[in-house]
Amino acid sequence: MTDLPPGIGTIEGRAEVNTSSGVEPQVPTDPLVSAQADSFGVDARVDTTENVPDEPAEAERPSGPVRPPLPRIIAVANQKGGVGKTTTAVNLGACLADLGYRTLVVDLDPQGNASTGLGINIRGLQASMYDVILNDVPIEDCIEASSVRNLFVAPASLDLAGAEIELVPAFSRELRLKQALAEVREDYDYVLIDCPPSLGLLTINGMAAATEVLVPIQCEYYALEGLGQLLRNVGLVQKNLNPTLDVSTIVLVMYDARTKLADQVVTEVRNHFGDKVCRMMIPRTVRLSEAPSFGQPIIAFDPSSRGAIAYRELAKEVSGGPA
Ligand SMILES: Nc1ncnc2c1ncn2[C@@H]1O[C@H](COP(=O)(O)OP(=O)(O)OP(=O)(O)O)[C@@H](O)[C@H]1O
Ligand SMILES: [Mg+2]
Repeated sequence: MTDLPPGIGTIEGRAEVNTSSGVEPQVPTDPLVSAQADSFGVDARVDTTENVPDEPAEAERPSGPVRPPLPRIIAVANQKGGVGKTTTAVNLGACLADLGYRTLVVDLDPQGNASTGLGINIRGLQASMYDVILNDVPIEDCIEASSVRNLFVAPASLDLAGAEIELVPAFSRELRLKQALAEVREDYDYVLIDCPPSLGLLTINGMAAATEVLVPIQCEYYALEGLGQLLRNVGLVQKNLNPTLDVSTIVLVMYDARTKLADQVVTEVRNHFGDKVCRMMIPRTVRLSEAPSFGQPIIAFDPSSRGAIAYRELAKEVSGGPA
């Protein structure tokens, strides 16, 4: 382990800090959630490596993350706020669509940022993910086309915030999204689920419905805090709800080559997660933060920008190339 400045530390060390720092799931009565306390002692690396097949010889090893068969349903999750989940779901989704993959972005965050970032007015929705999760409305009734060919969005509205509480007494409350997606999953090559910044029931629904988890990690101070807790939650969902779930992909975002700290985070994350970490790192650029206010993914807003080039490369790496 490299010597790191205070505030970075090891992933395991971070998890210990985090469990006592009040970052808790929003629904403490959930059995999945209350089981966490017992499993916090588990090494964060265990959950992410147990499904990895025997190592192929160096020459034949594919570069980057292992690519599962289509359709791939990817939960974009990290309970830390503002780490680039939505930016990654929207722009990776747009670039996968641009490569020819039929792609659906499911907005599971009451903030509705993925929806507005794709040009949807979340105040005038006939149906939203709230109705899908709480009222058994078929998901195809809320799916809308975006301005990018092949890219669709299942939008969220503010009332989804109530779902965390309203779901508590609901039947099969952790599997609502999985059941909803079962109706449409064969219509898409990629489904990207933009999770909210919590480990509550909405994120559990996202992970239960997914075939894999993608974790964006900011190349910044405290970026690794809470990562152990996130990985253990993935492990709990895997054990209790979704046996094949795995963290397949780590994306380093908001990379600023001018800071030494960014490279230290990159080194530590690569040491821990190896091939799961995408080679392409997403740079910190103003254009990426401006695009959502125009309701456009970066490849439409500024196709030749560094952010657009980076997300295009990321999409190739994640998918293996054009459809
Ligand atoms: N690579 C980047 N360069 C510059 N700004 C970025 C980049 N990625 C994201 N941002 C900006 O950082 C902020 C947080 O990003 P984003 O909304 O994607 O994070 P999030 O994890 O989805 O947040 P939340 O937890 O609130 O859902 C946004 O204002 C976004 O525009
Ligand atoms: Mg978000």
